[in-house]
Amino acid sequence: MKLKSTKYVWMDGKFISWKKATVHLITHTLHYGAGVFEGIRFYKTPKGTVIFRLTDHIKRLFYSAGAIGVKVPFSEKEVHDAVIRLVKKNEIKSGYIRPLIWYGEGHMGINPIGAPVNIAIACWPWGLYLKAESIRVKTSSFMRIHPKSTVHDAKISGHYANSIQAVLEVKKAGYDEALFLDYKGHVAEGPGENIFMVKNHVLITPAKGSILPGFTRDSIMKLAKDMGYQVMEKSFKLKDLYAADEVFLTGTAAEVVPVREVDKKKIGNGKVGPITQVLYKAFMEVVNGNHSKYKKWLTYVN
Ligand SMILES: Cc1ncc(COP(=O)(O)O)c(C=O)c1O
Repeated sequence: MKLKSTKYVWMDGKFISWKKATVHLITHTLHYGAGVFEGIRFYKTPKGTVIFRLTDHIKRLFYSAGAIGVKVPFSEKEVHDAVIRLVKKNEIKSGYIRPLIWYGEGHMGINPIGAPVNIAIACWPWGLYLKAESIRVKTSSFMRIHPKSTVHDAKISGHYANSIQAVLEVKKAGYDEALFLDYKGHVAEGPGENIFMVKNHVLITPAKGSILPGFTRDSIMKLAKDMGYQVMEKSFKLKDLYAADEVFLTGTAAEVVPVREVDKKKIGNGKVGPITQVLYKAFMEVVNGNHSKYKKWLTYVN
């Protein structure tokens, strides 16, 4: 997806121009994938720009860094504040923020011990990630990364080679998005989203264990519970998903995306389901600052 650049990037403690934010060919992470990142959205609200769940994202960034042995050369507070300063400095009101930590230049061989560690944050305006009112999803022949192969709930750059393979596979077959099963054959998640199904008014989302448990997933679960819906985190199979009344994906980039078809099977009546609609609306109200109950999730930039 082509993006619109902004003026500044924060790199290793300094603001530099977007054009100068480059890395050397001999950058360890470029070769081996041991980097970690976050995707964070910010929104224009009547009371100013807000960053959604910033503290949680920064915590996960540091957790992910720990999973690949990185000691971040800045504190969580310094990175948190750098994000706010960057958004302000770039003078954009809504979009996406990408912090990235990587093993840097001048160190080759798989063992990263001793390699320099770099950190940068970029942000840019970003509209809808999956550009449709509802989408068609196909189960990938690739399995979600086995939880014993990696720290599966860390957001490690290398994990996304698995996601990219699945996306390429299903795009070739004409679908909008991929779906992963886990090593037990249970429905896991999308390449960059969690999944929910609604059956008899109950929301069901795969239990933790093989997924990246997203903050959008967490927000939707809390919102749904507060609205009186029953929410269950439990494993289920594809046949259960095919028989669902409603299905939707959640993620920072994707937000809340209704799914109308999985593997050529129509979900419900093929239209956006009523509970999906209610939750989508509630989520957008929250991120737009219209729900005082959830203001703890919002960081105001100004
Ligand atoms: C594999 C995967 N699952 C789920 C998610 C959703 O997580 P979040 O809602 O925190 O963006 C993402 C996105 O970060 C992801 O990459």
